[in-house]
Amino acid sequence: MSSNKLTHFTSLSDWSNADLNAIIDTAIRLKSGNLISQAGKGKVLGLVFFNPSLRTKISFEVAAAHLGATTALVQPGQGSWTLETEPGAIMDGNKTEHVKEAIQVLSQYCDAIGVRAFSGLQDRDADFADVLLNRIREYATVPVINLESAMEHPCQGLADWMTIKELFPGEAKGKKLVLTWAPHPNALPVAVPNSVLDVASRSGIDVTLACPPEMLLHAETLERVKTMCVSNGSRFVVDHDQHRALQAADVVYAKSWAGEIVYTDPDKAKSLRWETYRDWTLTSEKMALTNDAKFMHCLPVRRNVVVSDEVLDSPNAVHIQEAGNRLHVQKAILMKLWE
Ligand code: CP
Repeated sequence: MSSNKLTHFTSLSDWSNADLNAIIDTAIRLKSGNLISQAGKGKVLGLVFFNPSLRTKISFEVAAAHLGATTALVQPGQGSWTLETEPGAIMDGNKTEHVKEAIQVLSQYCDAIGVRAFSGLQDRDADFADVLLNRIREYATVPVINLESAMEHPCQGLADWMTIKELFPGEAKGKKLVLTWAPHPNALPVAVPNSVLDVASRSGIDVTLACPPEMLLHAETLERVKTMCVSNGSRFVVDHDQHRALQAADVVYAKSWAGEIVYTDPDKAKSLRWETYRDWTLTSEKMALTNDAKFMHCLPVRRNVVVSDEVLDSPNAVHIQEAGNRLHVQKAILMKLWE
């Protein structure tokens, strides 16, 4: 049942810069209309969503349709059986089927399976090992696509890299991207910021992470980003002063995430992200500190909490273009997996 011989798209770390650039090049050709593909003709893409989605779900459905494929949607507990995820579980509760059988069965019907399985932000070690996604990869006998796991959102990351390339068509080197933490009423996972930092550090752009001290990302993640920036000839800076970090930025990517304190002291974590650091909302006054920066966000976004109306509605906001690019990179990913 091992899926070792399969090519999956579950982690950016499995893919070289050259591979990812080739996928983005295909996406750019698809977007321009210079490339039309029926690589999915006769194929079925399974989509398993343990968590809600707008962009990922619809853009994969449309991507599959454009390539001549169809989709089969599974939303556990919403018209599909509830799924147990723990190995060795005594299933005497409210879970009807084990994910081990479900993924093996879907592998009989589908030519690839996309899975969205967020972090529960309860078990730090399981989250950092991306345990559920990696289990699903083992159970599958067809390629698995990560539609956002505990640790990564690689499809979002590729769309973000494509957007950075569109913003700086010649060269991103010498430009500055700031990923700034933002307040939020809910504790959110680190998958998107991890993937943003991954692609930004591969792109050659200078990268600044702006966040309160308690919202630092995992030390291993930061070390990997620093190493990639060095090898790509760019700088990586961590700054706990948002105003200073934003100075001379060419791109500002806002996102909220939970610091590691969420695992040890959830009440303190809530008061930090929702009271202590409420003034981290990205405003037009803060954007005025930048080098007329473009604004990015993965969406969905809470207006006037994460970022003000003025920033979202400004001509410098490219979050809709960024979301549109999800469609093109995902078509290119499917083509790569099905070629
Ligand atoms: N950015 C993103 O993944 O959006 P959805 O959660 O709506 O899929």
